[in-house]
Amino acid sequence: MTYARILATGSALPDRVVTNADLEKIVDTSDEWIRTRTGIRERRIAADGETTGDLSFRAAQQALADAGVKASEIDLLVLGTTTPDLIFPSTACLIQHRLGANGCTAFDVNAACSGFVYALGVANNFIRAGQSKKALVVGAETLTRMVDWSERETCVLFGDGAGAVVLEASGEPGILATCLHADGGYKDLLYNPVGVSVGFKDEKNHGVRITMKGREVFKFAVKTFDALVGETLAAAGMQESEVDWLIPHQANLRIIEATAKRLKMSMDRVIVTVDKHANTSSGSVPLALDAAVRSGRIQRGQNLLLEAFGGGFTWASALVRY
Ligand code: ACO
Repeated sequence: MTYARILATGSALPDRVVTNADLEKIVDTSDEWIRTRTGIRERRIAADGETTGDLSFRAAQQALADAGVKASEIDLLVLGTTTPDLIFPSTACLIQHRLGANGCTAFDVNAACSGFVYALGVANNFIRAGQSKKALVVGAETLTRMVDWSERETCVLFGDGAGAVVLEASGEPGILATCLHADGGYKDLLYNPVGVSVGFKDEKNHGVRITMKGREVFKFAVKTFDALVGETLAAAGMQESEVDWLIPHQANLRIIEATAKRLKMSMDRVIVTVDKHANTSSGSVPLALDAAVRSGRIQRGQNLLLEAFGGGFTWASALVRY
């Protein structure tokens, strides 16, 4: 049996920190409202000219260095993002060239906030099928570029960042199960109304912006994670008690707490970075994973449950023996 094992992780964040107090100066909000509703205290925002590709490149370089793998050894690069640098080529192609992994399979996956977990699921299947031996999987976003800074309902929620993992084909257990889902029937609850084919302005002359029915998204996320936990454990043939760490999408602390409760996990076994990073969409899960690996909380041999949801709706999970 061939597994995809995580050799190493990496991450990158923009330098600029924007606190809730900073946002109080822009929109009618308060630190107290943001903290109690979401758990967010601050977020990082990309500098002018700093792109998803730049953050991806830095995260990938760190993961490759820690894995002791040369870029030229990578035969697959999958990048989850909904904020690519260009419409084409894909950001995966852009960073492939910067890293020096030219020639390997490289493509982006757009599953909104589930982008990284989707990308991980795709790479896992390439490795299991024998089509890849060493893969680089990245989740990266500059989502604040789509934020309307006059809309308090959304602008307080998001941040920028990237995370990456290097996977290797191995006889030792690595990724044990992945579950990837989507239901386009929920499109209107969370979407960006403009694009190449429909045009870059909507009927109200609005440009790019995140449109969200927050309360409905919240309810759906809690319900979905509940079902996803059961499905993923069953797919891996595991019990709740065997999961060492929950690494959830970092959108809202209340959603994370509800999932932990479902798993009967105390919050000290849940990786939380939403306070510092806010919602970085595809960047969120790999950023949290890397933070926990670097701090020494996650140890080799432990079982990790990764899960995400986002616009689409999409929702996805991975159960990983680290
Ligand atoms: N500051 C102060 N007040 C605010 C703010 C703000 N930033 N935003 C909204 N409010 C007000 C509203 O206007 C409303 O006022 P009203 O009662 O006078 O009408 C009140 O606060 C309550 O608003 P709700 O939307 O009902 O607040 P809720 O408790 O649902 O929290 C939130 C809103 C935080 C957005 C929550 O619903 C949530 O986290 N939803 C999930 C969001 C999410 O995870 N999105 C994923 C996006 S991922 C992707 O794919 C891009």
